[in-house]
Amino acid sequence: MNQLFPMIFTPGRIGRLQAKNRLVLAPMVRNYAAEDGRATPRYVAHIERIARGGVGAIIIEASYVRQDGKGFARQLGIHEDHTVPGLRQLVKAGHRHGALMGIQLFHGGRQASGKISGFQPVAPSPINDPVVNEFPHELTAPEIADIAAAFGCAAGRAREAGFDFVELHGAHGYLIAQFLSPFSNYRKDDYGGTTENRRRFLEEVYAAVRATLGDQFPITVRLSGEETIPGGLTISDTVDTAKRLEALGAAALHISTGNYATYAMGTMIPPMAVSDGVLLPLARRVKAAVGIPVITVGKLRMPEMAEDVLTRGDADFIALGRSLLADPDWPAKTASGRRTEIRHCIACNEGCISRLFAQQPVWCTVNPETGRESAFAGLSGGNGRKLLVVGGGPGGMAAARWAVEAGFTVTLHEARAELGGQLVAAAAAPYREGWQMLRDYLIREMARLKVDVKPNSRLDAAGVLREQPWAVILATGAEPVRPSFPGGEWMSVMTGRDVLERPAPPQHRRIVIAGGGCAGAQTAEYLAHYGNEVTVLEAEGDIAIDAPSDERNLLLARLQRRGVKLMPNTRLLNMTLSSAVVLLPNETRTLPADMVVLCLGSRSMDELMAHLGDSGVPTHLIGDAVRPRKVTEAMAEGAAAVLDLLERPLEPALRQEIEALR
Ligand SMILES: Cc1cc2nc3c(=O)[nH]c(=O)nc-3n(C[C@H](O)[C@H](O)[C@H](O)COP(=O)(O)O)c2cc1C
Ligand code: SF4
Repeated sequence: MNQLFPMIFTPGRIGRLQAKNRLVLAPMVRNYAAEDGRATPRYVAHIERIARGGVGAIIIEASYVRQDGKGFARQLGIHEDHTVPGLRQLVKAGHRHGALMGIQLFHGGRQASGKISGFQPVAPSPINDPVVNEFPHELTAPEIADIAAAFGCAAGRAREAGFDFVELHGAHGYLIAQFLSPFSNYRKDDYGGTTENRRRFLEEVYAAVRATLGDQFPITVRLSGEETIPGGLTISDTVDTAKRLEALGAAALHISTGNYATYAMGTMIPPMAVSDGVLLPLARRVKAAVGIPVITVGKLRMPEMAEDVLTRGDADFIALGRSLLADPDWPAKTASGRRTEIRHCIACNEGCISRLFAQQPVWCTVNPETGRESAFAGLSGGNGRKLLVVGGGPGGMAAARWAVEAGFTVTLHEARAELGGQLVAAAAAPYREGWQMLRDYLIREMARLKVDVKPNSRLDAAGVLREQPWAVILATGAEPVRPSFPGGEWMSVMTGRDVLERPAPPQHRRIVIAGGGCAGAQTAEYLAHYGNEVTVLEAEGDIAIDAPSDERNLLLARLQRRGVKLMPNTRLLNMTLSSAVVLLPNETRTLPADMVVLCLGSRSMDELMAHLGDSGVPTHLIGDAVRPRKVTEAMAEGAAAVLDLLERPLEPALRQEIEALR
């Protein structure tokens, strides 16, 4: 028995199967498959890496059972026989490390865009999904039977590939959920109206899959506990469905939440601003109603919380999604008393779900190895050579961390007294504690890996060369731009970063923020929190459009509650002693102000590169010093620079992805 987390590491049953512990990798589409749905070597290496970290069961991503249900450009398919060999490789990769292997069977219905699938979406009723917004074809009864049969055929392929269990994707507003929910099902025939009728499609899918797989093969079902939208599913509906699935012989139930229409509420894939364990009450309700195992999910990042959930009996298994992208060794570290070494998911939703929705491959912000596992496997070759990293922000610390792993001896010079770079300002605003988690983690890693950190050390080119490094990584970052405005000399003007970094925030003042990107909006929230009267101007369009959609939705709602005035399409013209003069689309207006805060972007600090470029010392420029972007890019480039120093050949596709960051 594990002394530290006995419940997590007690084996658990799913039907006839026994998982070695209570941790399940949640299904996540990654866009790592080939365009025809086949698993790629990249995908296999990724799953193998996660399995090696010790998770008890793996549920491979939502895999489309028919081409018209495909939701993402490089989603995994199980729709045709050509996918079976690749799926078999995935299964073997998991089995090699003792994980049970399951796969989620999926049809996107009206949430699958025709631009991806090549077909008009299909749905129970001819009503557009509010997010995808494409007119779907209303399925006829024979067409419904065809799709149920496609689920059955897909299940056969899953068994042929060697999977231990299958999961039906009945959650998140996809086709099965579209039938279940009065929000999307307006039918008047046997598939609509009453609860039994709306459940009929799920039962027919279940029957087709059961008929293919036989009585003993474990089938789990993922359901949205609720949809939190008028007409949407409630937890009572889901409890009813759960009982019915238990009666039909389902092996376990996996309780998530929501659909695309409610995605921005931030409970399906909870962002930074939403509490850990937000979906536990839903799992608890289902668990109280059924005797089969219940899997819970949703920002269960902390081992202590997972252990408590299991101890209280709120659920039987803990599904970890993003936590295992951020650190596949979460289970092994938890089991072996290295809990403080876990690189936690910070719930930024930038590298994973935002990239997925942009049809890009998933690349976790805090773990540059995600999806690049072969490139980073067995990192070595530094041979003690001296690497100098200039700049102690996230990019510089990532470079230092991966360089030590590769065997370099690393010295890191940071101009300021503290490490963290822009993470310091990012973490200051309310609900941004994830950035502090990342900063703390990277600082701990510097100590654990014995990086020689030199704070308060601003190096010029001569200083760099005096250190006689074998190679240099320049992670010198960017500084906020401070354009001058007429009248600026009369007004108190600061940049957003200055405001967030200074120990004493301004209080009870009238503040106009010029620049309404995510950074400006978060600075506004911070200032409003301290009783300031805040107005945000954005010259080009809407406020915070660079934030992930759920993050943005929650942030804008909080700004409204705090009385922050948002002025899209409005430009700062000039200032007086006590006002900011702004230009709206059709008028000029004078806003009373005591202070103006500029959040107008940054400028790369790349001067050292010009001086070191032809010094003969291999020198790599990374992160914001190349071009101001986000932490995801900075950390990725930091780690990728180490691969470059080692002259590791990267697969062309990966090379292209790294180049595309620039
Ligand atoms: C990139 C990404 C892809 C996802 N794809 C799926 C999917 O294929 N099927 C599914 O049921 N849920 C999917 N989800 C939701 C996760 O399974 C999980 O429920 C959610 O991320 C919350 O758990 P976490 O906080 O542990 O990440 C996805 C989430 C992410 C971040
Ligand atoms: S990108 Fe952000 S939210 Fe996604 S897994 Fe990584 S840390 Fe978590």
